[in-house]
Amino acid sequence: MLRGKIVNLRIIEQDDFDIYTEWINSIEIMGKYLFGTQRSLQETMEQYGTRSREFGTFVIEKKDGTRIGILHFFDSKFGGYAKSKEVGFFLIPEERGNGFCTEAVGLVLDYLFLIHPLERIQAVCATTNIASRRVLEKSGFRQEGTLRRLAFFSGKHMDISIFSIIREEWSGPNLLGFDHKR
Ligand SMILES: CC(C)(COP(=O)(O)OP(=O)(O)OC[C@H]1O[C@@H](n2cnc3c(N)ncnc32)[C@H](O)[C@@H]1OP(=O)(O)O)[C@@H](O)C(=O)NCCC(=O)NCCS
Repeated sequence: MLRGKIVNLRIIEQDDFDIYTEWINSIEIMGKYLFGTQRSLQETMEQYGTRSREFGTFVIEKKDGTRIGILHFFDSKFGGYAKSKEVGFFLIPEERGNGFCTEAVGLVLDYLFLIHPLERIQAVCATTNIASRRVLEKSGFRQEGTLRRLAFFSGKHMDISIFSIIREEWSGPNLLGFDHKR
């Protein structure tokens, strides 16, 4: 469990797959930038069974244990000269706008920079996805450029912004329970 001040990140467990499947099948929750293939519970679980250790999924929980979203990390799709990780996330609509996602991204940066000798962590979002862009900017990511018409979301091709944070820009670790003096 990665503990922050307002959210915790807990690695996904068997019992979470029903709510996870419900969320990824919901157009209201995924929104126009993540709306994707409808999947059965069994398909979701099978897909997870084939994923490597390079792919991780955290359930974002409020401090009272309420499940409010998902944060993935995985080997990045772009680059390849040095190893880098990529992060992606969503929250259920009624919990947005409270800073939960920004803290969750900060916690996963701590985790990835502490356990991997990474120089770079990246993220992508549609150029028009303001909420996602703000989360990344508030977490210390910088925009590097635009990948034109890279994505097909909700019936149209969209430009994608690519963001990164490099180790020296990382403000952490801020994890609760981490011994900062050692
Ligand atoms: C992206 C997402 C996870 C952000 O969650 P969140 O809880 O709102 O995130 P935070 O509260 O930490 O920060 C959101 C920031 O975006 C801003 N924001 C959100 N919508 C906005 C809009 N339409 N215009 C301007 N700013 C907006 C908020 O004001 C806040 O910034 P601030 O703190 O400077 O005011 C959430 O919107 C979501 O799940 N979206 C659907 C899925 C998705 O698009 N995921 C990302 C795919 S790349």
